[in-house]
Order: sequence, then structure tokens, then C-alpha cells
Amino acid sequence: MTTATNVLKWTRVFAVAMPVCALLILVYSTWVSSSVQNRLPAKPLVMSTSTRNTQQRCQDCHSDITDNYHTAPHARTLTRADTPSNVSDFDNKTFHNNAANTDIHLKVTNGHLNITTQGYTRPVSATWIFGSGTHAKTPLITWLNEDGKTSGIEHIVSWYADGELGVTLGMDEHLDSEGIGCLGGPRTAAETINCFGCHSSYVPVENGRLVLDKLEPNIGCSRCHLNTRQHVENMDAGHASTMERFSELTPTESIDRCGECHRRAEELGGEILPEDTMITRFASVGLTQSKCFVNQAEVMVGPDTVARLDCTNCHNPHRPTSRNWQDHTAQCLKCHDAEHDRAVDCPTAKRNSNCLECHMPSVPANKHLSFTDHWIRVRPATK
Ligand code: HEC
Ligand code: HEC
Ligand code: HEC
Ligand code: HEC
Ligand code: HEC
Ligand code: HEC
Ligand code: HEC
Repeated sequence: MTTATNVLKWTRVFAVAMPVCALLILVYSTWVSSSVQNRLPAKPLVMSTSTRNTQQRCQDCHSDITDNYHTAPHARTLTRADTPSNVSDFDNKTFHNNAANTDIHLKVTNGHLNITTQGYTRPVSATWIFGSGTHAKTPLITWLNEDGKTSGIEHIVSWYADGELGVTLGMDEHLDSEGIGCLGGPRTAAETINCFGCHSSYVPVENGRLVLDKLEPNIGCSRCHLNTRQHVENMDAGHASTMERFSELTPTESIDRCGECHRRAEELGGEILPEDTMITRFASVGLTQSKCFVNQAEVMVGPDTVARLDCTNCHNPHRPTSRNWQDHTAQCLKCHDAEHDRAVDCPTAKRNSNCLECHMPSVPANKHLSFTDHWIRVRPATK
């Protein structure tokens, strides 16, 4: 804000004295802001061109990454209802809705998950299941609305990693809904496109209608690495790589790239309060509130080396998350290291203790699902 105001103020000063100079400044500041915006799409970005052919080439030269990529939750964010894993988790199952005293029956036939219940007697079905199952899987019921646009209902029943069916996060209020509402939360056409946008590599949309048979599900390489076609051309021609490296972005730019889907603080609107438990769902919002993130440039880890904290300290997006707390606390100790006088040390606990339990705990979101609170801080409960 202040920078923008300053630029404006100086632009005015120059405009009186030197119009040419003012013009240059304006051109420059427009260029800077547009180049930043190109890297930081404000809305979930739906990829409008297929990158399948380019992406098939990655394995020629990066088999170390592609060979195991299928183990990453990013590689399984969206699946068809009839995969063996979905059949085993949903087919022939019944969920009893205690509030309305109704049953919801699930059956996989001809590629669709058919959903029947006394609460809504017309037959409905879901072709797509969202979520890898690392934490949860939710069917999305889709149909064309009266304007011919694809709309959705986020189904009230989800499969959770504990192996049970349960109420989808945030859907308890629909349990005693009547009519179509008893199936879950209705999503507008725009919201439905966004569901697919954050869970896919390429989403073809024609006049608001999703072309679901051409959709490329899951987060492929080109969804995070931009300009891959140029990169492959360069590599084939023996030129140097011009591809962006995440480590060359500033920590905020890097986190905002993940935040395109994991959310950004400015998108939430209003003040961000530690008491708001919804924030735990949005790792990139939480982490950026931490003093560790905000003050990272003050920590020297070598004579000329500043510490760095972004998502990649603890996560390799090509792999599942490590469940070993020591892998994560090793990152804390890079900065909070009393022996080297880098950042303040914990007055309460020893170096080899599990910092996460007190400063980055797992917080239950419902009976089956927990999120890790990425807002690293001294929490009232630990006092
Ligand atoms: C013909 C071989 C080849 C293909 C195909 C290829 N790469 Fe690369 N890639 C390389 C080489 C070599 C480097 C290292 C370049 C360097 O260090 O200057 C590299 C580097 C990278 C980097 C690190 C950034 C950088 O500039 O060093 C990323 C990210 C990357 N590749 C992603 C991809 C993705 C995604 C694909 C598939 C769309 C892909 N590459 C296809 C050869 C290839
Ligand atoms: C195009 C959207 C998108 C982008 C960009 C994205 N993610 Fe994700 N990410 C997802 C989705 C969707 C899931 C849920 C996967 C599932 O269903 O389990 C996920 C899951 C994760 C998980 C949980 C994995 C686990 O093992 O539990 C981590 C960690 C993660 N992402 C980190 C990152 C990081 C770091 C970046 C930036 C480098 C990033 N993501 C960028 C969409 C995205
Ligand atoms: C702005 C991007 C974005 C949109 C839009 C979006 N998701 Fe996700 N989704 C994510 C990310 C990131 C994750 C992983 C972290 C999390 O749980 O929020 C995820 C995780 C999930 C999971 C796995 C459970 C879990 O919590 O990890 C399910 C199921 C899911 N999303 C369903 C949906 C459905 C259905 C819609 C549309 C109503 C939707 N998502 C819209 C980004 C998005
Ligand atoms: C969710 C976002 C995301 C996806 C999807 C993704 N990458 Fe990456 N990739 C990253 C990040 C972030 C880094 C930087 C890692 C770091 O600095 O530790 C990276 C680094 C790389 C590198 C540089 C070498 C390295 O290990 O640092 C290569 C090569 C690469 N990715 C290839 C791929 C390929 C091939 C795919 C598809 C199979 C892919 N990436 C999918 C985010 C992603
Ligand atoms: C990149 C360096 C860096 C990393 C990595 C890091 N921190 Fe920090 N942390 C800092 C800095 C700098 C501060 C601010 C210290 C100050 O206020 O003087 C801080 C502050 C804190 C505080 C006090 C916060 C408050 O609100 O008062 C806690 C607690 C903390 N860190 C714990 C951790 C834990 C646990 C980890 C690992 C999960 C971690 N930090 C990782 C640099 C880091
Ligand atoms: C200091 C280490 C650390 C950093 C930095 C970090 N995470 Fe995590 N993250 C964790 C730990 C620990 C878990 C829980 C692992 C487990 O389940 O055992 C986790 C879990 C997750 C999950 C799975 C759902 C959940 O909440 O448990 C997602 C999604 C995620 N992180 C996204 C991100 C994103 C996006 C960033 C960057 C904004 C990020 N993380 C930065 C340590 C970190
Ligand atoms: C048993 C819970 C517990 C564990 C485990 C724990 N801490 Fe703490 N930590 C606290 C409490 C409580 C405070 C606040 C102390 C106070 O204000 O007097 C604190 C304060 C801090 C601070 C802020 C210090 C300051 O002067 O502002 C940092 C940094 C910190 N811890 C880092 C860590 C790191 C790194 C680890 C893991 C090696 C860790 N903590 C493990 C409970 C814990």
C-alpha cells in the first residue's frame, strides 16, 4: 500500500517537473505489477490448454520424479467413480442419516456412483470423486442447469481415511434438509468449475458447460511448473533451461503459488484471528501469519546466508507428506538454535522434543478429519 502511494506521490512530483520521467515511471510500475500478477493469478486458475503431450515428455529426463509421482496426493486429487479404490470405498455401502432417520445407499454401476435415498426420490449420480483419500474423498454430483451450465452438489457423505463413511466437512446443517438439499451442498456453475479447476490439470469449458470427457484430472507437472513446452524445446535443442525455479522466487511468491489452491490470506477477507479454526484448513494462510515466516530474513544461517521458510522446507510436492515429526522439527532447529544465536530458543522444551505438539498441533475439524495448524506460535493451550 505505502509503496503504491509513494509511487503515485512521486509520479505527481515528476509530472510537474519532468513529464517524460513520469511516463517512464508509470510504464515501469505497470510492467512490474503486471509481471507479478502474471505469476500470481488472483482467482483459481483453470488451465485452458491441454499440456498432456508436453507432460508425457517429463519422464524422458526426470524419471527420478515421475517414477514415484503416483504416490503423491497431488497425483490423485480427482478420480472417476469406478476406480478399484473407489469401488472398494463406496460401492454397496449405506450411510444412515440419524437426524432425518433416512438411509443413503451408494452403488457403482456403469462408471457412475448412483445415490438413492428416501429423502429425495429421483435418481442422482456422481461421476467424479474429489480427494485422494489421504484425508478424505467426496463425490460431486453434476448435471446441466437450465442455462446449460454444469452445476454440482457436494455430496453429504464422504469416505474418510479411517475407513468410515461420515458427514462431509461443513455439511452437518444439511442433515435435516428436505428435497434435493438432503443430498449435500449445492454449488453454482462457477463454484463447480472451481472445484475441478483446483483438482485438475486441464478443464475444458464451453459456454459454462464442462467437457468432462476431455478433462485431465489431477495436478500434473505443468500445473505448478509454468512454460513447460518452452522448457522441453530448450532441452531438446541443447539450450540452457529458462524454467523458473521455486527457490528463486521470494518466500511470499513461492507460498502464493501453492496458495493458488491452498488459499491466500488476502482472499479470506477481513482480519485473520488465531481463534478462527477454519484457518487450519488453509496451510498457506496460517504459515504466513507466523513470526517465523514474517521475520525469516532476520535469521542468518551462515556468514552471508539468510534462512528461508516456505512450504518446501517441510513438503516435497512430488511425494506424500512425511509423517515423521523429526523431519519437520529439524527445520525448526535450523533457525531456533541456541548454540548459534540465530533466532530465540524455546524457554520450555529441549532441542530433541517434538515442537509440533505445542507449536504446530493437529486440530480436529470433525470426527474423522484433522488439519495441522500451520500458524506456528505460542498457543494458549501450551501455556
Ligand atoms: C530432454 C530432457 C528434458 C525434458 C523432456 C524435460 N526436462 Fe526439465 N530439465 C532438464 C535438464 C537437463 C534440467 C537441468 C537444467 C539446468 O540445470 O540448467 C532440467 C530442469 C528442470 C527443472 C528445474 C528448473 C531449472 O531450470 O533447472 C524443472 C522444474 C523441470 N526441469 C521440470 C520439467 C518438467 C515439468 C518437464 C516436463 C514438462 C521437463 N522438465 C522436461 C531436462 C529435461
Ligand atoms: C492446482 C492446485 C494446487 C496447487 C498449485 C498446489 N496444491 Fe497442494 N494440494 C492440492 C489438492 C487438491 C490437494 C489434496 C490432495 C488430496 O486429495 O489428498 C493438495 C494436497 C497437498 C498436501 C497434502 C499432502 C499429504 O500428504 O497430505 C500438501 C503438503 C501440499 N498439497 C503442498 C503443496 C505445496 C507445497 C504446493 C506449492 C509448491 C502445492 N501444494 C500446490 C492442490 C494444489
Ligand atoms: C481454491 C482451490 C480449491 C477449490 C475451489 C476446491 N478445492 Fe478441494 N482441495 C483444495 C486443496 C488445496 C486441498 C488440500 C487441503 C485442504 O484440505 O484444503 C483440497 C482437498 C479436498 C478434498 C480432500 C479432503 C481434504 O480436506 O484434504 C476434497 C474431498 C475436496 N478438496 C473436494 C472439493 C470439492 C467437492 C470442491 C468444490 C465444491 C473443492 N474441493 C474445491 C483446493 C480446492
Ligand atoms: C504441486 C506443485 C508441483 C507439481 C505438481 C510438480 N512440481 Fe516439480 N517442483 C515443485 C516445487 C515447489 C519444486 C522445488 C522443490 C524444492 O525447492 O525443494 C519442484 C522442483 C522440481 C524439479 C527440480 C529438481 C528438484 O528436485 O528440485 C524438477 C525437475 C521437477 N520439479 C519436475 C517435476 C515433474 C516432472 C513433475 C510432474 C511429475 C512435477 N515437478 C510436479 C512443485 C511441483
Ligand atoms: C526461517 C527461520 C525459522 C524457522 C524455520 C522456524 N522459525 Fe520460529 N521464529 C523465527 C523467527 C525469526 C521468530 C521471531 C523471533 C522474535 O520475535 O524475535 C520465530 C518465532 C517463533 C515462535 C514465537 C512466536 C510468537 O508468536 O511469539 C515460536 C513458538 C516458534 N518460532 C517456533 C518454531 C517452530 C516450532 C518451528 C518449526 C515448526 C519454527 N519456529 C521454525 C524463525 C524461524
Ligand atoms: C515447518 C514444517 C512445515 C511447513 C513449513 C509447512 N508444513 Fe504442511 N505440514 C507439516 C506437518 C508436520 C504436517 C502434518 C504431517 C502429518 O500428518 O504427520 C503438514 C501437513 C500438511 C497438509 C495436510 C493436511 C494437514 O493440515 O495436516 C497440507 C495440505 C499442508 N501441510 C500444506 C502446506 C503448505 C501449502 C505449506 C506452505 C504454505 C506448508 N504445508 C508448510 C509441516 C509443515
Ligand atoms: C511442551 C510444550 C512445548 C514444546 C514441546 C516446545 N515448546 Fe516452545 N514454547 C512453549 C511455551 C509454553 C512457550 C512460551 C513460553 C513463555 O512465554 O514463557 C514456548 C516458546 C517458544 C518460543 C518463543 C520464545 C520467545 O522468547 O519468544 C520459541 C521460539 C519456541 N518455543 C520454539 C520451540 C521449538 C523450536 C521447539 C522444539 C525443539 C519447542 N519450542 C518445543 C512450549 C513448548
